[in-house]
Order: sequence, then structure tokens, then C-alpha cells
Amino acid sequence: MIERKKNQEKIKSIVTPKSSQNENDSVEVSLRPKNLEEYIGQTEIKKNLSIFMQAAKKRKEALEHVLLSGPPGLGKTTLANIIAREMGVHIKITSGPALEKQGDLAAIITNLQEGDVLFIDEIHRLKPVIEEILYSAMEDFCIDIIIGKGPSARSMRLSLPRFTLIGATTKLNMLSAPLRDRFGNIFTLQFYKNEEIEKILQRSSHILACKLTKEAMIHLSKTSRQTPRIANRLLRRIRDYAEVHNMEIIDETATNETLDSLGVDILGLDHADRHILQTIIEKFHGGPVGLNTISAAISEEQGTIEDIYEPFLLKLGFLERTPRGRIVTKRAYQHLKLPLQEKNNQKGQKTFW
Ligand code: ADE
Repeated sequence: MIERKKNQEKIKSIVTPKSSQNENDSVEVSLRPKNLEEYIGQTEIKKNLSIFMQAAKKRKEALEHVLLSGPPGLGKTTLANIIAREMGVHIKITSGPALEKQGDLAAIITNLQEGDVLFIDEIHRLKPVIEEILYSAMEDFCIDIIIGKGPSARSMRLSLPRFTLIGATTKLNMLSAPLRDRFGNIFTLQFYKNEEIEKILQRSSHILACKLTKEAMIHLSKTSRQTPRIANRLLRRIRDYAEVHNMEIIDETATNETLDSLGVDILGLDHADRHILQTIIEKFHGGPVGLNTISAAISEEQGTIEDIYEPFLLKLGFLERTPRGRIVTKRAYQHLKLPLQEKNNQKGQKTFW
């Protein structure tokens, strides 16, 4: 009995990441759409998911495993929760780094019910030993676990309920081919259009009971890096501003002042983005320069630069990835109002950039 309780506690710590327990997250969670109809954007993905879910429900089967990839903040976790809700099943949430031993995964997976969703965030960070048992779990709905140690150790096969694995990753290319191939549905989320972010902001401001003028809404949507999580975060900061200034309706001036005080510019770049670009320009003549060198120069982890900052800088066309390293583009110089530098191109000719 005590062992069972300990086991349940252990599962709890693996399936409920601590990061989702603070207050900010709970506001963020309350803004998340609960079903596909409420979910704005990613139209193609929604259309496909809706058909696959209806078909699975009609056949009374679990949905085939789903892999969601794309930059952070675009709604991978939200979609996973929506899938579970629409399929009428439970969802257990964990992440690649939280699963340390085979037993961790076995404990969660053997507690699932028929059709349940297991969501593994950052699935590209799974340890190879865990990935190994996931293969048979995903394909044959069984796992082989080793009981005991040394010469008396023996292997036991456990059969599992048919479940749906939803994996989320910001780095599709870091997933091994055998793991990727076991997903029946692979979707890549795209950055949102400004109009979609506007609609998300309208919905969120309604939930948060704060009124924004049309101009404020348009301005905010342009500075949200085409990312719902950022749009909702900035909206909460502007709501704070309005609260303190007893404003009933938030106008463009209030929006501008809040964004200025947060160091967010007209395109949504913040101090960290500008620091990366300025460092490459000032210390490395605009590149090409390797990621590890940039990382050392700005004291930021390579993974953070790659996952959090680069996707949007690449999308804006401010940064280019080349085999010789990162290069800041002419467009970025113009945005930062920095003079173009004289450089030699690959043919040894002088160019300004
Ligand atoms: N909140 C965060 N992401 C959203 C989305 N895609 N649609 C609606 N509301 C959201």
C-alpha cells in the first residue's frame, strides 16, 4: 500500500511539471482555447485534425500518434489538450527531460486508460533508453520491463491500452528517424498572421475584461512576434498599466508606453534580440559567426538562442544561417539604424553590408 502511494507520488512529479504551477501560468492557461472551434489560426492543421479525430471516434479507436513541431509559444500544448478534450479522454503531461529512467515512462504508460493521451513536451530531449521502450509502446502497445538485478533478472512483457502519444518539439530535425516514423500524423505549426493575433487578443481581452481601442489592438498585434503566448503576455502587462492608471479603455498611447518600458520595439524585438544582432554587428562585423561564439559573447545558452530568439529573427529576414555561421542582414542594419559595413564578399569584392 505504501509502495503504491510512493509510486503515485513519483508519477505525479513526472507528469505535473513544476513550471506549470505558478500564477502567471494559471492566467495563461485560462486564456487557452478549450476546443478546435475556439482555436484561432493554424487552419490546415485544424482541418486535418478534425477529420482524423472524427474518423477515430467513428471507429471507436484511439487517435493515431501525433507529432507537433514549431517554435515555442505557438500552441502545441494547447492543441494537445484540445485533442484530448475533443476525443473525450484523459491527458497525462510530461516532458523529455523529466523522464530519466525506463521505469518513469513505464509507470505513466501503464496507468493510462484506453484511448488516453500521453503528451511528451520537448520529445527531442528523450534519453535513448526511454526512446527504445517507446518504440514498442507506440507500435505494438506493449513494453518489456526488466524485473530484478544480476543473474536473476528477467524480462516481462506488459500489454498496454491503446493510447495516443502526442509529442511536441521545437527541433524536428533532432528527432531520430525511427521515432519520427512512428507518428501517424506530423504537423508543423506556423507563425500566426497579424489578423489572427488580433483575433486572439480580442478573445483574450474579453476573458480578462479589459477594453482596448482598435488602434491599440492593431499595434499590439504587430509587436507580438506572431506568437499567441507573447501577445497574451504583453496584453497582461498593458492591463496592469491600465489598472494602475485607472484607465477604462486602453488606447494606443498606453500601449506604446507599456511596450516602451518593456523595451519592445515596433516589430516586437526586445533587448535580448537587439543584443544578439548588435553583438554580431559590433564584435563580428555582421558575421558569419558560429552559434557557440555568439553564445559565449552574450552569455546565453546556445539552445536558448536557437529555440527562443533565432526563429523569429530568421522569419523577419534579419538573420541568415549559413554553413560558415550566422549573418546579420542588411534589413536588420536598417531596422537598428546602424551604418552598413564595408565587407569583402566570397569573391573578394567590396560590398556594403
Ligand atoms: N490563445 C492562445 N493561442 C490561441 C489560439 N490559437 N486561438 C485562440 N486563443 C489562443
